Amino acid sequence: MRIVDSAPALAEALERPRSGTAIGLVPTMGSLHDGHLSLIRMAAAECSNVVASVFVNPTQFGEAQDIDRYPRQLDRDADLAATAGADLIFAPTVDCMYPDGFETWVEVTDTGRGLEGDARPGHFRGVATVCLKLFNIVAPDIVYFGWKDAQQTAVIHRMIRDLDLALTLRLGATVREPDGLAMSSRNTQLSTEERERASLLPRALTAGVAAYTAGDDPSDAALAVLATDNGIEVDYVQQMTAHDHRLLCAAVRIGTTRLIDNVILEEPA
Ligand code: PAJ
Repeated sequence: MRIVDSAPALAEALERPRSGTAIGLVPTMGSLHDGHLSLIRMAAAECSNVVASVFVNPTQFGEAQDIDRYPRQLDRDADLAATAGADLIFAPTVDCMYPDGFETWVEVTDTGRGLEGDARPGHFRGVATVCLKLFNIVAPDIVYFGWKDAQQTAVIHRMIRDLDLALTLRLGATVREPDGLAMSSRNTQLSTEERERASLLPRALTAGVAAYTAGDDPSDAALAVLATDNGIEVDYVQQMTAHDHRLLCAAVRIGTTRLIDNVILEEPA
């Protein structure tokens, strides 16, 4: 697997496919798990050239501590990505993405508000900016994102439409551990005891779906489940609409680790 770390090296490495074939991009922050790999597999199934980017983007982290703790394992990631069907890893340096004097930002105003946007001020500005840069550098035909970060996909979708980006957005379903916990690079930060607690998050969301189906308030039902463990601090449980789907979204803190997840309450008619 070839790893390149700058925009010019990428341009040289990425053989432009013939017309009729596609370049797929799967943006990630590395520490790859099956959720990421499912997106790479989706991309490999329909693109002749698949680039997975690995970049722990400093501008989307609020707390300096959080970015310092973020796991990094590039060689392992490259092997996993290759097995899933990636052709190239783009792992730029921070200087490549944010050269001295960097001062241009993309802000998706309304879609980036509420939920994660409120909980992590500046987060979506960092996400939208780095994604636009990755889209410009790689010039993909199709980009792949996970439902797991539903509001992020809504922000990217809005940016693609508003800025007339000539690319298609595809969404991959959330991949979960056997106990229902959504796979996340952050799960490795949980202690054994915290990891056990964490399975309450998907259980709470499932209770929300059951309540919604029964005509009751899904947030109340999910909150009631989360309240059974006082080791879980709830940041929010809220409904949102993304890509015409009604979702129940939640963010919790377990110890010092923040986890987010969501479930579909209703698909478009
Ligand atoms: P990261 O958290 O590494 O996630 C990269 C992609 O994998 C995102 O599209 C995310 O929604 C998807 N993903 C994460 N966990 C998943 C799971 N359990 N099942 C399916 N897909 C999953 O999201 C980011 O990085 C960054 O914000 C990024 C878009 C790369 C910009 O820096």
